[in-house]
Amino acid sequence: NKYALIMAGGVGSRFWPVSRTEFPKQFIDFFGVGKTLIQSTYERFLKICPPENIFIITNEIYSDLIKEQLPDLNNFQILEEPIMRNTAPCVAYGCMKIAQINPDAVIVVAPSDHTIGNQDAFINAIEQTLNAASENDVLITLGIKPSRPDTGYGYIQYTNKTLSDKAIHKVKLFTEKPNLEIAKTFIQSGDFLWNAGIFIWSAKSIIKAFEQFIPDMFEIFDQGKAFLNTANEKLFINNAYQQCTNISIDIAIMEKAENVYVLPSEFGWSDLGTWASIYDMAEKDYVGNAVMPNDHVIMYNSSNCMVNVPKNKLVIINGLNDFIVVENNNTLLICPRDSEQMVKEIVADVKSNF
Ligand code: GDD
Ligand code: MG
Repeated sequence: NKYALIMAGGVGSRFWPVSRTEFPKQFIDFFGVGKTLIQSTYERFLKICPPENIFIITNEIYSDLIKEQLPDLNNFQILEEPIMRNTAPCVAYGCMKIAQINPDAVIVVAPSDHTIGNQDAFINAIEQTLNAASENDVLITLGIKPSRPDTGYGYIQYTNKTLSDKAIHKVKLFTEKPNLEIAKTFIQSGDFLWNAGIFIWSAKSIIKAFEQFIPDMFEIFDQGKAFLNTANEKLFINNAYQQCTNISIDIAIMEKAENVYVLPSEFGWSDLGTWASIYDMAEKDYVGNAVMPNDHVIMYNSSNCMVNVPKNKLVIINGLNDFIVVENNNTLLICPRDSEQMVKEIVADVKSNF
């Protein structure tokens, strides 16, 4: 009764211009390993649950890309959303559908666009938490030791209270994307983790949480759940989504629920959420420049820059410190490394003007 729900509907706007709405980052082979991020994610879950228990949920505009990149999936395993409503409706739809198939399901809900360095450690963490979730009425998330006061993450403060599995701690406070000032105090206090955005729970526990914390959305899906896994599923879902508010699972449920637990984890996680996290992962030269590809870029008097440009382009950079220089599809972005959370705003401006 182990299931995986892979969320693949994000547009990755902080990663622009390399990741674009027509081609978000989960569909990109970012490090040139021969597999896209979603293909690697799918392969990881094949080691955890039977292939027919892996579901991908995405906006309908991406279903062709999914079929192309994951040809082994059956149609019933691809859940199509008509509009983008963030991750709460996505989890509600996915988990309710799985519950209709197997009411005793335990589910890992995971993003499609992260990298995991240590596969074995990851698989162990998921199996460990799936076991705990099948025995307890809990909402479990994986926590990562933070390395900087990044405002793009959820922060988790945990207590010493544990489940019978002593590694899984009760959460005291869950704060989604705090401002920089608050993020700094969290980092200083030392007992906070980043939310990895990978959730483990039983279908029963998460559905109960929807009913308790976001009853409107629970109602929308609950009243039509008999249509799920039938020929009427699409019609019902198209209707249901029109009524859903745009809200993330973190804000809708994780910040509010009392039965949230965390497994502090170390498996070389990166959500590749921003250029800073790519920069962290990338190989750097002795002055801290991460340059991809590195044979056509010449740097003088420059340090701690992240450069990502087309392969055939000759790029010369002089006197630039702590900057991001990225180009894709004839679009060039240059901005200070520490202002890169602004990329989302920049993209919005660009889109409304060009
Ligand atoms: N199907 C579907 N539909 N998927 C979606 C949607 C949607 O409307 N919106 C986002 N996703 C997918 C994204 O593709 C990604 O794989 C995952 O859901 C998480 O969404 P993000 O938009 O990337 O969330 P975030 O990075 O801002 O924040 C979340 O992840 C952080 C860690 O990476 C939160 O859970 C944070 O608390 C967490 O720290
Ligand atoms: Mg993300």
